[in-house]
Amino acid sequence: MRFEIVTIFPGFFAGIFEHGIVRRAQTEGLVSVALHDLRNYTHDRHRTVDDRPFGGGEGMVLKPEPLAEALESLGILPKGRDQGPGIGDQQKQGNDRTKGRPLVILLSAQGKRFTQAVARELAKVDRVVLICGRYEGVDERINELYCDMEVSIGDYVLSGGELAAAVVVDTVMRLVPGVLGNEASGEFESFGVADAEIGTDEDGVPRSQHGAGGLLDYPHYTRPAEFAGWAVPQVLLNGDHQQIRRWRREQQLRKTLRNRPDLLEGAVLSDEDRRLLEAIRREGAQQ
Ligand code: ADE
Repeated sequence: MRFEIVTIFPGFFAGIFEHGIVRRAQTEGLVSVALHDLRNYTHDRHRTVDDRPFGGGEGMVLKPEPLAEALESLGILPKGRDQGPGIGDQQKQGNDRTKGRPLVILLSAQGKRFTQAVARELAKVDRVVLICGRYEGVDERINELYCDMEVSIGDYVLSGGELAAAVVVDTVMRLVPGVLGNEASGEFESFGVADAEIGTDEDGVPRSQHGAGGLLDYPHYTRPAEFAGWAVPQVLLNGDHQQIRRWRREQQLRKTLRNRPDLLEGAVLSDEDRRLLEAIRREGAQQ
């Protein structure tokens, strides 16, 4: 899989992809990241990439010409003028981007929320171009003419799309087949695939010891068994895997209820899960 990042701050990414799994994925040739300095596509003495907004208002806007030139240097023509999808066609094309036109993403606070589900879809694509917005934004014609998706990493405003692009690359890259040592482990973290896809045992407990489903992950512990006077939960030490699975599932439910109750609406819950949740809620009401 190849990522192309278009930015006015290529230096921002120095070191960011040079650690751990992300570095290994690149040295093993599973993934590559190329940086494209937007200023290389300007033609004036000051290498100008921005201009004042029409209609007035605060701040500056990234000019369309350097961005269009940068994208066209990557072989990306305005939609409808190449072999790829026209404007609004991305639904029709679905994820079949293993050949041909790369997926072009504009990072902006106005974008669709980036989630693990979006990351899983992007991991199926061969080539993704990430455009980092700056200043007040990017001339909207670039979005309309060249971009397939506008993506936000969260409901807050960053000073530019660079940090967001790094988040997208890191999250997507580790889902590319072969990148994680344990092929399956991405499924079992917080926001992993739905429980229905993991399967459950006869008691309705997810078969995997790590089955996160649509819930947050359970807490993890390692040695020492006692730290600062705090012991590891006894259940994890007794080797009873059935009990451990049940305990972990309960912890997932507790953590999700406490930190992200919104996720419970979309999660696939067994009858046992619902009973546990009810009991946890009652505990909370009594305190
Ligand atoms: N640019 C500014 N804020 C952003 C956000 N939340 N996500 C992506 N790009 C951004």
